[in-house]
Amino acid sequence: IKHLLSAADLDVATATEIHDTAVEMATVSGREVKKLPTLRGRTVVNLFYEDSTRTRTSFEVAAKRLSADVINFSAKGSSVEKGESLKDTAWTLQAMGADAVVIRHPASGAPHRLTGWVDGSVLNAGDGTHEHPTQALLDTFTMRQRLGRIAGLNVAIVGDVLHSRVARSNTLLLHTLGAKVTLVGPPTLVPGNFGALTPDVAISYDLDAVLPDADVVMMLRVQQERMGAAFFPSAREYSRRYGLDAARMRRMADHAIVMHPGPMNRGVEITSEAADSPRSTIVEQVTNGVSVRMACLYLMLGGRA
Ligand code: CP
Repeated sequence: IKHLLSAADLDVATATEIHDTAVEMATVSGREVKKLPTLRGRTVVNLFYEDSTRTRTSFEVAAKRLSADVINFSAKGSSVEKGESLKDTAWTLQAMGADAVVIRHPASGAPHRLTGWVDGSVLNAGDGTHEHPTQALLDTFTMRQRLGRIAGLNVAIVGDVLHSRVARSNTLLLHTLGAKVTLVGPPTLVPGNFGALTPDVAISYDLDAVLPDADVVMMLRVQQERMGAAFFPSAREYSRRYGLDAARMRRMADHAIVMHPGPMNRGVEITSEAADSPRSTIVEQVTNGVSVRMACLYLMLGGRA
């Protein structure tokens, strides 16, 4: 594939090829000399209009481990603050010879627009409340690594589904890969229209009822910056009904894992006991993010040649 804009772009063969390549990339990441010469002479631009810790840094590490030149472009401190448009910014990057642009933007659909303005590959690193496909790839990679498979898993995605691009991309990719998804949260934060994406997605407002059958419990950050009091009355009430703590973890099967894409609101959607428990894959997700993004860049920029 040339661009990675949506998890819907990924069929089983493509997602599996990315996962298998990420396994090979993980061996590179574990070596003393971590670099491959594969993308020497290629330029990867990280174009971030929204804050990021994990995604931006892991794309940077991934590109550097493949020997690409990396340009980190943050809207803060750039001519965007003087009013320069995305289109003019894209043309500027194009003129510098970008082979791939990794974009995070608050507007859903911005990565898609970018594909019309640059010749290189475009990778969506999160657009508004729409999608975050590399997060879904690294999350499913982590499930495969911990549980040995993806098909047939029961995955509960819990919390602020309404504002979550992570939930949307994971729901799409998990459906493609044969897992069963249950969206869990308060009615104000779980939209009914996810069924339009994947017809067999289940919805529950009762976390305690869902936990015993889940193989994976994926907690979502409550995105307080995107909502008002009507959605989210109080952190205490939210965490009483939908927060994952030690007592709730005891309802889970012995093999079941706890995931969170980060950043976490500790004490709101997840307690430290849950986040730091042996069930938690949160640190592994960050580590796997580098290997999975190496695999995406390697395959999309023609690394095989
Ligand atoms: N999971 C994720 O996208 O984290 P960042 O916002 O830190 O990139």
